[in-house]
Amino acid sequence: MKNNPRKLLVTGGAGYVGSVVGAHLLAAGHQVTVLDDLSTGFREGVPDGADFVEGRVQDAAKVLDGSYDAVLHFAASSQVGESVADPAKYWHNNVGGTLELLDAMRESGVGTLVFSSTAATYGEPASIPITEDAVTAPTNPYGATKLAVDHMISGECAAHGLAAVSLRYFNVAGAYGAYGERHQPESHLIPLVLQVAQGRRDAIAVFGDDYPTPDGTCLRDYIHVADLAEAHLLALDRATAGEHLICNLGNGSGFSVREVIDTVRRVTGHPIPETARPRRAGDPAALVASAQRAHDRLGWRPTRTDLTDIVRDAWTFAQSLGEDAR
Ligand SMILES: NC(=O)c1ccc[n+]([C@@H]2O[C@H](COP(=O)([O-])OP(=O)(O)OC[C@H]3O[C@@H](n4cnc5c(N)ncnc54)[C@H](O)[C@@H]3O)[C@@H](O)[C@H]2O)c1
Repeated sequence: MKNNPRKLLVTGGAGYVGSVVGAHLLAAGHQVTVLDDLSTGFREGVPDGADFVEGRVQDAAKVLDGSYDAVLHFAASSQVGESVADPAKYWHNNVGGTLELLDAMRESGVGTLVFSSTAATYGEPASIPITEDAVTAPTNPYGATKLAVDHMISGECAAHGLAAVSLRYFNVAGAYGAYGERHQPESHLIPLVLQVAQGRRDAIAVFGDDYPTPDGTCLRDYIHVADLAEAHLLALDRATAGEHLICNLGNGSGFSVREVIDTVRRVTGHPIPETARPRRAGDPAALVASAQRAHDRLGWRPTRTDLTDIVRDAWTFAQSLGEDAR
């Protein structure tokens, strides 16, 4: 049990990241209420021991009262491709929803927020590793809405003394016990390759093998979801009234698409056929975080940095899902 257990609202706590962070918050002795509309999350994703309110972030005022100490805000629409096809959905849900949440927090006197931001706020990086001072030029509506929310939060901190930390995740991966990645449709590389291993897909598409990287495929920074969860607990403790702290969360080292596929082959024993495809527009050659600020300001260091461990945890979770739950 922690020294200072807090009463926390976790929006999006039935989704992938929110469920894992929620489980860590409960293990640390905090009291957790999950607010989730189950639009992309799952009832069984709500961590054991949390209270559950099925509802929208837009209605947070119905839940938040003076008894809450802080909000961890994961609820969002987060499919890049969908955001290009239906940008208004993203502005309504991510920006509109967060605006309502910030109003409800201010009105009920909840003074601390930890927000799920993203590497997509930076767009194509001029150099790597990407620091928080890098230019923010998102290349899709998803990244633009997350950047807009970061600006909204900065305003609340300056005007009303909100204590806020935005955590800009790079590629979240792996699983934590019963909680893992179940996006539908899935767009993340590791679960997609695992679907090939499970016979749910014939082959994995490799988009571009002529990038200026060691093996020609794109480099991405994979961060284990349990490492990510630990950063949220630290952020909750370190948030300071009137300050909006923005920290990248990544391993600081990239793995190529080919390394991921080879690792899945080793972990699962499946040959994983590949299909060569042309590069996709807007796919940078490398996206790798500098996590120096998260270390300096939060005292955070990722410890589960071995790609084999990350893939093994994701594989164990994928296999634990019954046929109809996939
Ligand atoms: N997974 C990643 O690699 C990654 C990377 C960067 C940032 N993020 C951010 O982290 C957060 C969590 O991502 P995830 O991968 O767990 O996604 P997810 O889709 O699994 O979880 C999102 C949850 O929010 C809920 N939700 C969505 N809109 C809502 C609303 N208006 N009201 C209430 N609930 C709502 C969904 O039902 C779902 O349970 C998102 O904000 C996402 O943008 C994720």
